[in-house]
Amino acid sequence: MSAFVLGIEGPSNKTSLVLGTKGPSNEMSLVLGIETSCDETSAAVVANGRRVLSNVISSQINTHRPYGGVVPEIAARKHLECISYVVEEALSSAGVALQDLHGVAVTNGPGLPGALLTGLPYAKALALAQGLPLVGVHHIHGHICANYLADPAPQPPFVCLVVSGGHTHLVQVEDHLTCRVLGRTRDDAAGEAFDKTGRALGLPYPGGPHIDALAKEGDPHIIPFPRAKLPDTLDFSFSGLKSAVLLHMQKHGTGNTADIAASFQQAVVDVLVANTLAACRQTGLSQVVLAGGVAANGGLRTAFAHTCKAEGFQLFMPPPVLCTDNAAMVAAAGFFALQAGHTSGWDLNAFPSMDL
Ligand code: KG4
Ligand code: ZN
Repeated sequence: MSAFVLGIEGPSNKTSLVLGTKGPSNEMSLVLGIETSCDETSAAVVANGRRVLSNVISSQINTHRPYGGVVPEIAARKHLECISYVVEEALSSAGVALQDLHGVAVTNGPGLPGALLTGLPYAKALALAQGLPLVGVHHIHGHICANYLADPAPQPPFVCLVVSGGHTHLVQVEDHLTCRVLGRTRDDAAGEAFDKTGRALGLPYPGGPHIDALAKEGDPHIIPFPRAKLPDTLDFSFSGLKSAVLLHMQKHGTGNTADIAASFQQAVVDVLVANTLAACRQTGLSQVVLAGGVAANGGLRTAFAHTCKAEGFQLFMPPPVLCTDNAAMVAAAGFFALQAGHTSGWDLNAFPSMDL
């Protein structure tokens, strides 16, 4: 085992590591993460919730693209086809054997039911067969924990903006396990607004990265799209913005799509930045942390960098590959849960809707 440069002493100290018993500081805890909540089949091996030894992501985007969105039944079938290969690849590229692992973490919600129900039983069977502890991970908590894999990593407490295809949450992260929701979207998620606007502009699915690229060529201030500010709350609303883009296109035609993309993106970014700063002022916290697929957006990252610098806040954002769905974030979240002594039973179920 030492040949893998992982510094593992041997299997005898496995359980104590996972359960968080204090031990020598060079002890290493290896968690296998599995993520199948939507359209990425992913498996990863992470050491001590911090160091990514492998992070294999098999994306189904090309399969779903002709349909303009994720087809749940196809997603589930694709996960089934890929999961064994993805897990094998994650172990072999980490240089780790099954018996080297100390725990298995798996996303058990929220997500597509059929998709969750591929990774979850796979993780259960693997953990049971290997005699490893299993822990279920909330997908949004996984996104937040992607930040602990980056350098430098934030130390709780901090304010985290989680922006993905299915979720838009402003969260106060109290410690590695506990979060308090400060605000959330009342309708569309930010990523959903990107994807729907992308479709209206005739861009391929998912629209987010394509709008990001197109926006670089447009004027972000030329079309005054609305910025929804809901009174006395840190909640968001994006459905009006999406309708405003459609209305603009009905009235003026698609015209310069780069200007529409840039102006739409700016409207989303302005609202996300404004509410996040308001959350910092409300909580008195000065670390701003980004997470989720939309956190890969160039305009969003630049805007947060400028604003946080001007306001004296410290900004953390994972590299783009750890913003979108991946299993390394799940392994990181699982590590902290296992370290605190939390394990899931073999009756762990999938929850397509699951509060944070
Ligand atoms: O976190 P994620 O991979 O999956 C969910 O948990 O939903 O996020 C996917 C979302 C999609 O809506 C996608 O369009 C968006 O993240 N996204 C982006 C960018 N990259 C991914 N949105 C804007 N700009 C990007 N560069
Ligand atoms: Zn996600």
